[in-house]
Amino acid sequence: MKKKIMALILAAGMALSMAACGSSGSSSSAKSDDAVAAIKKAGKITMVTNAEFPPFEYKDGNKVTGIDADIAQAVADDLGVKLEITDIAFDSCIPALKSGKADFCLAGMTVTDDRKKNADFSDPYFDASQVILVKSGNTDISKPSDLDGKVVGVQQGTTGDTYCTNEDGKNDISVKEVKRYQKHVDAVSDLIAGRIDAVVLDDYPAEQFIEQNKGKIEKVGENLTTEEYAAVVPKGSNLVDEINKVVKNLKDSGKMNEIVDKYTSDSNQ
Ligand code: ARG
Repeated sequence: MKKKIMALILAAGMALSMAACGSSGSSSSAKSDDAVAAIKKAGKITMVTNAEFPPFEYKDGNKVTGIDADIAQAVADDLGVKLEITDIAFDSCIPALKSGKADFCLAGMTVTDDRKKNADFSDPYFDASQVILVKSGNTDISKPSDLDGKVVGVQQGTTGDTYCTNEDGKNDISVKEVKRYQKHVDAVSDLIAGRIDAVVLDDYPAEQFIEQNKGKIEKVGENLTTEEYAAVVPKGSNLVDEINKVVKNLKDSGKMNEIVDKYTSDSNQ
């Protein structure tokens, strides 16, 4: 419910800012001209994410933690400002950037041409792919084409959603129904309860859900896609150069591997 309200507020905000752009086209773009200067002046950087995606972002009590939170902290530290993370629906993240509600988004978000129309991506920081989860012992599904005629759960607005919906007919599957959830964890519960046949989601989160539900669900078949995660900023924001610099430093220094290990090597969920 809270998420719905948030989405409405975001949508309303977006409509307003678009109207503002249309009328003069001057002042609202000034904001992103020197995003970095504005962030330094404010003494804080704001990030949106959807904290339902371990090990990249999840809640530890009230705090958003995970690989993306650590990368975000490195960006904030480099700029010498405070980091503020807001947890919203995944498909509200790009609208939030568009309406100026946040400086950037880190959400294990895959770079896609479609998304590039509405926001700018940093250099990629992680390779990923979509995989299939089924209830343990399900012998009906062992390869992608077995999804034909099945009910498949996805997180709404993700690349898993796009893959299963297969609007452009690019993928060789035709599922019976795509069930869209706000949170992967709810799709996984429905899978365990036998209400859906499979869940399609990103590989690292899939491993975490398997770990959290030992013996109840398993991964089957080959990887469905090849994807890359990157940070997202409002179109034209010069924050992208700063993020690219930090990501490069994290990679070159071996820190990126350390961060990934920290959230994947043991069951610290
Ligand atoms: N990589 C997928 C995508 O970009 C899923 C990301 C979901 N992220 C999240 N924080 N819930 O669509």
